[in-house]
Amino acid sequence: MTMRQRHTLPALLCAAALSLSLAACGQDSEGGSKEDKKANDATVGIAMPTKSSERWIADGRNMVSSLKKAGYKTTLQYGEDDPDQQVSQIENMITQGVDALVIAAIDGRALGNVLQQAADADIPVISYDRLILGSPNVDYYASFDNEKVGRLQGDYILDKLGLADGSKKGPFSIELFAGSNDDNNTRYFFDGAMEVLQPYIDKKQLVVRSKQTRLNQITTLRWDGGTAQKRMDDLLTSSYAHSKVDAVLSPYDGISIGILSALKSDDYGSKSKPLPVVTGQDAELASVKSIIAGQQTMTVYKDTRALAKVAADMADAVLNGKKPEVNDTKTYDNGKKVVPAFLLKPVGVDKTNYTKELVDSGYYKQSQLD
Ligand code: GAL
Repeated sequence: MTMRQRHTLPALLCAAALSLSLAACGQDSEGGSKEDKKANDATVGIAMPTKSSERWIADGRNMVSSLKKAGYKTTLQYGEDDPDQQVSQIENMITQGVDALVIAAIDGRALGNVLQQAADADIPVISYDRLILGSPNVDYYASFDNEKVGRLQGDYILDKLGLADGSKKGPFSIELFAGSNDDNNTRYFFDGAMEVLQPYIDKKQLVVRSKQTRLNQITTLRWDGGTAQKRMDDLLTSSYAHSKVDAVLSPYDGISIGILSALKSDDYGSKSKPLPVVTGQDAELASVKSIIAGQQTMTVYKDTRALAKVAADMADAVLNGKKPEVNDTKTYDNGKKVVPAFLLKPVGVDKTNYTKELVDSGYYKQSQLD
């Protein structure tokens, strides 16, 4: 019997036996439905990539609370950014008999074998925020519109430099950073940003002095801030000894903080040498504080509470033999199948709207930002 049959068959039997015993199939004596009871028995395994970034801690916490609210037990593991460790954590969850898996992959291509084991055990898999690649055994994908994230960052740079409305002509200098090359999102963020920036590079209104414009020249393994800091140091030395950098495309707050450290060590942020426009993503606390202090310029806020709710609803639907709600059935081809997705909307946040977006929405308390 498959996992899904395990969950749907009792319902069918109940329907057939309806005339015999209503009580056994409908509301039980404690007022919960049969479905609630099943949820109470089911465990969802949650595999998260790392605790080194605050956002994933929030994602894990929000997943657990969304699933608990729906009546599920959970087991939550963090892979410390080590793909092998994440594989063995997922293997253990399968051995322990979890009923569904929600996975934010460290290396999107490293999970083919373990997901085959999940499929053999009829365990449905929800890919969380990062698409799992090269495996047919991914049922649904919960994420944000990842290209839009990149476009928000690119558009922000054009606006801030005065290029978008034509009030300035440039040329301005810009350097480009991308995320980890084993994360499928990296390409989407980069493509979204370049869609808006490339025309200005072509017109020479934006100049990449380092000439490092290809994705494979600008990635940052595991999104590591220290790695980004080192690369920014090198860029400043090699390409900006006699000129200033005006903008830095950064895909993620942890990388932005590294870039800002390199810039500050090179005297940026002083009166004669203003900091460049520096983008980011995730609205992590350190970056929001940096934005308020006038250092990082913007971030892209992705509400992890909403993402966790979408992923939890997907798991709940699949476990009850229902179809989860999706709003994209075209974009996310993982090499084996197009994975049906629900994509949330990212929001650009800077000094002007952080109160509305982050404080009024309850994502942070004002006291955390003071
Ligand atoms: C990506 C994610 C970003 C950021 C980054 C580094 O997969 O979409 O929001 O968190 O990982 O953790």
